[in-house]
Amino acid sequence: MMPAAGSGRRFDPANPKQYAPLAGSTVLECALAPFLDDARCRSIRLVLAREDPQRRRLELALGRRGAVVDGGAERCDSVLRGLVSLADGMDASDWVLVHDAARPCIARADIDQLIAQVDGRAEGGLLAVPLVDTLKRADADGSCVDTPARTGLWCAQTPQMFRLGALRAALERARAAGRVPTDEAQAMEWVGVRARLVAAGHANPKVTTPADLALAAAVLAARGGIGGGA
Ligand code: CTP
Ligand code: MG
Repeated sequence: MMPAAGSGRRFDPANPKQYAPLAGSTVLECALAPFLDDARCRSIRLVLAREDPQRRRLELALGRRGAVVDGGAERCDSVLRGLVSLADGMDASDWVLVHDAARPCIARADIDQLIAQVDGRAEGGLLAVPLVDTLKRADADGSCVDTPARTGLWCAQTPQMFRLGALRAALERARAAGRVPTDEAQAMEWVGVRARLVAAGHANPKVTTPADLALAAAVLAARGGIGGGA
């Protein structure tokens, strides 16, 4: 399931980042391709802004396994709408992988790692990387006030993998309480689930600013194409 209904305010609100050109395709289609190629993905949901002009073209690209769903105000609302639409034809115990359209460099090998480390061993999990930079906390003037220990800290990525029913219930509970989880794992933490952190073996940066697009292009070029893992 792919949330792609954001407005990309930090990128360029006039040019949605999902459709920025990348590797002869678009950011969104680079992010989606490894899942379209994967027979384990029996059902695919692409969550788009209601007025998205690319909707029809992408609907065709998804084929019979897929459907486009209207997004919501927050990322978690978009994910929830996608999950509700998946409920038709899937069991509550089926696994769902939620992958951001803004991560176009996902390697097939890391999707395999995530599934291998989570299926049968955990209630869920996510790709992530241990934090390498020294952390600084800023005051209101932008000066350092302290250096939090980075021991045990990871940067969360996507895909994030949880069982359909459990994830839907956790997100519904969060929204009913007026809370906005940043990712699926946080909603699951709030109901007591400890998701497994699966170390990503390949660069999987998020496109947030225009500079990130050049980084993503370099990653894909070095790797020899979309979904590769070198
Ligand atoms: N997303 C979504 N629905 C929303 C907000 C975000 O489906 N209401 C999606 C985005 O399209 C993206 C992913 O969630 O694929 C991660 O969000 P982010 O990188 O923050 O993208 P945007 O919200 O579009 O960007 P910004 O926060 O800079 O506006
Ligand atoms: Mg956002």
